[in-house]
Amino acid sequence: MEKKRVFLTRTLHDFALKELKKRYQIEIHSGKIPIPRKKLDLKIKEIDGLICFPYDVIDSQLMDKANNLKVISTFSVGFDHIDIKHAKKNKIRVGYTPEVLTDATADLAFSLMMDIMRRVSEGDRIIRKGYWKKIYGAYDYVGTDLQGKTLGIFGLGRIGSTLARRAKAFDMNVIYHNRKQVSKTREKLLSVKYVTFDKLISKSDIISIHVPHTKQTDLLFDKKIFKKMKRTSFLINTARGKIINEKDLLDALKKKTILGAALDVFESEPIGKEHPFTKIQNITLSPHIGSSTKETRIKMAEITLRNLHLGINGKRPKYSVGY
Ligand code: DGY
Repeated sequence: MEKKRVFLTRTLHDFALKELKKRYQIEIHSGKIPIPRKKLDLKIKEIDGLICFPYDVIDSQLMDKANNLKVISTFSVGFDHIDIKHAKKNKIRVGYTPEVLTDATADLAFSLMMDIMRRVSEGDRIIRKGYWKKIYGAYDYVGTDLQGKTLGIFGLGRIGSTLARRAKAFDMNVIYHNRKQVSKTREKLLSVKYVTFDKLISKSDIISIHVPHTKQTDLLFDKKIFKKMKRTSFLINTARGKIINEKDLLDALKKKTILGAALDVFESEPIGKEHPFTKIQNITLSPHIGSSTKETRIKMAEITLRNLHLGINGKRPKYSVGY
């Protein structure tokens, strides 16, 4: 019997490719990221399984071109790049990778917060440009203390809760806003206080975003919100880029409406050195590396494969969305 066909929009670990090759005919896209749409349009017609990444847009038009597609297995916890309703309608299973990347992503959010508040990356740029010898006063490279500051967590799910625990160890006050207030027991356990969205915006010294990108959160952080934030505050985003209006954020950072921002995710990824964010100093940028640790990425690859195996054989993936 002919082996089923699997297409990967980017490569995975060697162990994963070896396992995939044993069971399937595989093809891996190399080169431009994200994969050009024309190529994906062609490939989707002939495959049984797709392994994709958050940059790939898997919409209804693409799915309608598929003849045998049984499963889409995304190497990510986020699945806003996939039209889940349409997949369900077309009886295509969708697998994703929650849980395993909680710590890694919370750690990155915390690192970004420290980085922008203590101006670490900015200092690195100063040294690389040879300016250290010229700038050496008591007021230079002055950052902001973390302890005693109020961290506002927008979205108290797995990652938001883990970040709250990290913040507690640094003597920060933590407030949060969520679609639903969590139980009093959980609030006590995490030492967090529920506030309205408006309070979160106006009271926080740092806001960290941990909600999915949905119709409700699309471009939610815009100039109106930045105006309500403290002038001394910082914005951290490790969730999804489209939750922030980048043009408004750029303006707010230039005018010092807020003091700084640190972003791991962007409206359209990947971004290059021509992006206006690279021209200002009060922002730290990282290339969507929330889950990017050796340990976490191995676990994600294992789950991605498991979801694929189950889905390609008509079963529900271990971690499944929709159908
Ligand atoms: C995901 O897996 O969706 C995260 O964005 C990775 O950082």
